[in-house]
Amino acid sequence: MNIMGIEGTAHTASVGIVSEQCDILANVSDTISPESEGIHPRIAANHHAEKFPELIENAIKNSSLKLSDIDLIAFSMGPGLGPCLRTTATAARTIAIFRDKPIVGVNHCVAHLEIGRKVCKVDDPILLYVSGGNTQLITYSENRYRILGETLDIGIGNFLDKLGRLLNLKFPAGPKIEKLAAKGKNLLDAPYTVKGMDVAFSGLLTYLQHELNNGASIHDVCYTAQEISFSMLTEITERALTFTKKKDLLIGGGVARNKRIINMLEKMVNIHDGRLYVPPDELCSDNGAMIAWTGYLVYSSSGPDDVNNITVDQKYRTDMVNVTWRNSITDH
Ligand code: ATP
Ligand code: FE2
Repeated sequence: MNIMGIEGTAHTASVGIVSEQCDILANVSDTISPESEGIHPRIAANHHAEKFPELIENAIKNSSLKLSDIDLIAFSMGPGLGPCLRTTATAARTIAIFRDKPIVGVNHCVAHLEIGRKVCKVDDPILLYVSGGNTQLITYSENRYRILGETLDIGIGNFLDKLGRLLNLKFPAGPKIEKLAAKGKNLLDAPYTVKGMDVAFSGLLTYLQHELNNGASIHDVCYTAQEISFSMLTEITERALTFTKKKDLLIGGGVARNKRIINMLEKMVNIHDGRLYVPPDELCSDNGAMIAWTGYLVYSSSGPDDVNNITVDQKYRTDMVNVTWRNSITDH
């Protein structure tokens, strides 16, 4: 079985093709990068509508398959920006109807986690999901991904991108802040906000903005942004590991590409004789392959969606998903 996954919840339009063994046969993406402001939902949706035809064509070409060899169409049905979700669902539905193929909608957050579990070969880890819009600490129990802790305001990636805008860095700012932070020397006396297993970043952002206005070095500001926010995440993750007594930690989402957070988490899990699993960079960022793989899991455990009744959900939380595939398909 070959599965095509179509991702388009926010800034990235992506098409991936995987086999039912999760061999990644193609994974092609195009990300919109606004000059100065944040992402405008309608402009991003237009970007996706324009890019999907060529992405689908390129994915098919890279996979050396024909469109007729695709057996299932999966798409990201939420959470995300309304216009982007509707454009993505329309693209998926068009192919499904045109080729008379089954279709399934999948949760974007769960897809970030499932691709990691599969490629890192880890069965039941604590999951730290760190992306643009989301920051969640997750564990699995009885057919649900349960959220142990999360951000109380903005996502960690969003925090970095907002800081990037203050520094005139183009989206995505995370990788640029990572480079600037490497040259920082002084840790500023910034607020550190942890409440149990939850975190908050907006106080830290306001503080850094204030320091910049007062002439603080850009390098020190980036260094402080990373050291403080990643320490907060490392602290709550340590709390989750000791609370659940789990040894394995899996990280996912775009911010998982950052070497400094990986380094901090690695040191922490080593203290607890645990192990950190990090998926390859291209599978941490938004991508079609993760949607394809999760689509396969959904389809094999609960069947297809009704192609005439496709829905999207802007606020489709990780813990709303009925996880029908875990403990039901023995080899996943
Ligand atoms: P979601 O919908 O899952 O919340 P998302 O749609 O924003 O996420 P992702 O591709 O999962 O998309 O994550 C994008 C985020 O990752 C951006 O905020 C970007 O700045 C951040 N990012 C990417 N690379 C790095 C890096 N090296 N260091 C820090 N942040 C990074
Ligand atoms: Fe994402």
